[in-house]
Amino acid sequence: MRSDGILKKYAAYIKLPAHAVPLSLSEGNTPLIPVPKLAQLLGGNFELFVKFEGLNPTGSFKDRGMVAAVSEAVGRGAKTVICASTGNTAAAAAAYAARAGVKAVVLIPGGHVARGKLAAAAIYGAKIIQIDGSFDDALKLVQEISAKLPIALVNSVNPFRLEGQKTAAFEVCDELGQAPDLLCIPVGNAGNITAYHMGFAQYDAEKKTGMPQFLGVQAEGAAPLVLGKIVERPETIATAIRIGNPARGAEALEVIKNTGGKMLAVSDAEILAAQKMLAEEGIWVEPASAAGLAGLKKEIKNGLEMSGKKVVIVCTGNGLKDPDIVALPKPAKVRPIFEEILKLL
Ligand code: F0G
Repeated sequence: MRSDGILKKYAAYIKLPAHAVPLSLSEGNTPLIPVPKLAQLLGGNFELFVKFEGLNPTGSFKDRGMVAAVSEAVGRGAKTVICASTGNTAAAAAAYAARAGVKAVVLIPGGHVARGKLAAAAIYGAKIIQIDGSFDDALKLVQEISAKLPIALVNSVNPFRLEGQKTAAFEVCDELGQAPDLLCIPVGNAGNITAYHMGFAQYDAEKKTGMPQFLGVQAEGAAPLVLGKIVERPETIATAIRIGNPARGAEALEVIKNTGGKMLAVSDAEILAAQKMLAEEGIWVEPASAAGLAGLKKEIKNGLEMSGKKVVIVCTGNGLKDPDIVALPKPAKVRPIFEEILKLL
């Protein structure tokens, strides 16, 4: 059974102004899937779980933050919301705007944006504008637009986005009875890693659930937080995290420092290999969402001590978002006869 959505479920823990309106698509309450086979492949001396955020209503974790941001924006009278997006934020903004009866405008970067994300933004009725520039350019533009016009910004620079997104950390603690020892999470604009840290810290203060170490993972071609400098032309097949100047980069590096964690980069080949490993457990995620596992695998190879640990990999988006990344084998074509099929088995 799905929950009433995160705003109702975690009302006591989410800081929203009194004007926020009730809003829900039954987001959240996503499964924490044990993946013992995968843990075995990685050495077998620890417990491994996938927090599968791809099972949110629009297929990514963005729904948690968006329900909070749109609820607040509509409550203060906004008739239009706007965001820059590599695709998932756009889909979520469009869906929650539709649900709340307001308009959504989404700015997407030039180059490839995964088809499932654009289709979602389109069917929910968003105005889609593609700019001849990067995600970072788009984010600057929507900040300017929302400062000059009565249009509410719903990117994760909006604090209410983080208020919603932190609920994923609550769910992990509620299910495990404590925080994990290690959390592996993809990093793009760095809102999600910041939100998870907020969530774990809040629960730890109230319920003594402990704090995980954070393993933040970027794609090699879009790794400003690993390189320590802005990447002007970010490039990766993990288009969701094709970001060269993360808005919450400084906060993400604080999270890493404060939890004794690590920010690292993985190659596109490592991301695709991790995506395949997850699929072999029956979990299909989009490429960016496999970065956490790719990073964990790399760190274990580098000698990270794993013995007895509880580890959670955050899988942020559904594989259906980006079907084009999967190489389809040409199906064998045969006459519809038992013997013909038998020859192929
Ligand atoms: N994974 C997926 C599937 C994403 O869509 C994103 C971000 C991230 C990870 C990284 O999260 O930005 O909070 O560090 N997607 C944004 C978007 C940028 O526009 O949909 P982050």
